[in-house]
Amino acid sequence: MATNSKPQFCLFSSLLLILLPILLSGSHCTATGHGFSIEEASVNDIQLAFKQNQLTSRQLVEFYLKQIHRLNPILKGVIEVNPEALHLADKADSGRNSKAPGSLSGLHGIPILLKDNIATKDKLNTTAGSYALLGSVVPKDAGVVTKLRKAGAIIIGKASLSEWSQFRSESVTNGWSSRGGQGKNPYVLSADPCGSSSGSAISVAANLVAVSLGSETDGPIVCPSSSNSVVGIKPTTGLTSRARVVPISPRQDTIG
Ligand SMILES: *[C@@H]1O[C@H](CO)[C@@H](O)[C@H](O)[C@H]1NC(C)=O
Repeated sequence: MATNSKPQFCLFSSLLLILLPILLSGSHCTATGHGFSIEEASVNDIQLAFKQNQLTSRQLVEFYLKQIHRLNPILKGVIEVNPEALHLADKADSGRNSKAPGSLSGLHGIPILLKDNIATKDKLNTTAGSYALLGSVVPKDAGVVTKLRKAGAIIIGKASLSEWSQFRSESVTNGWSSRGGQGKNPYVLSADPCGSSSGSAISVAANLVAVSLGSETDGPIVCPSSSNSVVGIKPTTGLTSRARVVPISPRQDTIG
């Protein structure tokens, strides 16, 4: 059965590739030619499009900001948008042109959304979804954020989550926080988006961003990934820095 279905799938997908530009033309077109579409692109595809001058970081960020504006009122995957996102995109674009191609990181100019428990020392708040932390000032960027910025990634905003990563109360529903409201599963709005890194998964699934970070203690990356049909990676605890991430357990927390 499996070997029979493979050629059919290939035929179907090549038909789709032919049809996609036709289907997309007229409406808001996100294909920039040669079958490249932001919605289905991996980070490597995006880097290739940058390299071939098919796409800039500014265009990519503008696309995501439009998606957030259009879909977030329903999906509530994003709590805050970075007011400096377009400025950071322009910086990434000029950095790309001035640096030797081989010296650029694979994340250069790629927009990334961070779960709202990951500290950023910028215009964004870090609140774990709770009003209790609104206006608090973090001492500096989280360890993972320092690395992302060094790699040239663009912090586009903060993702919603189950408030306090569901630690304050098990009665907080998956994906709900007082600041973010109820995050929704983009495939079936009435379905459980799972938690607590709900917004990180919802936003990637609905193309509000290319990549996101969440945090896991006992399922909060893998469960929302599976519920919202995206790939989630839970690194072995200790392999990624937890510095300046609102904690639950030092023995279990991991950022991924
Ligand atoms: C952070 O929170 C303050 C309220 O304390 C708000 O005025 C500001 O707009 C928030 N920042 C962003 C980037 O949304």
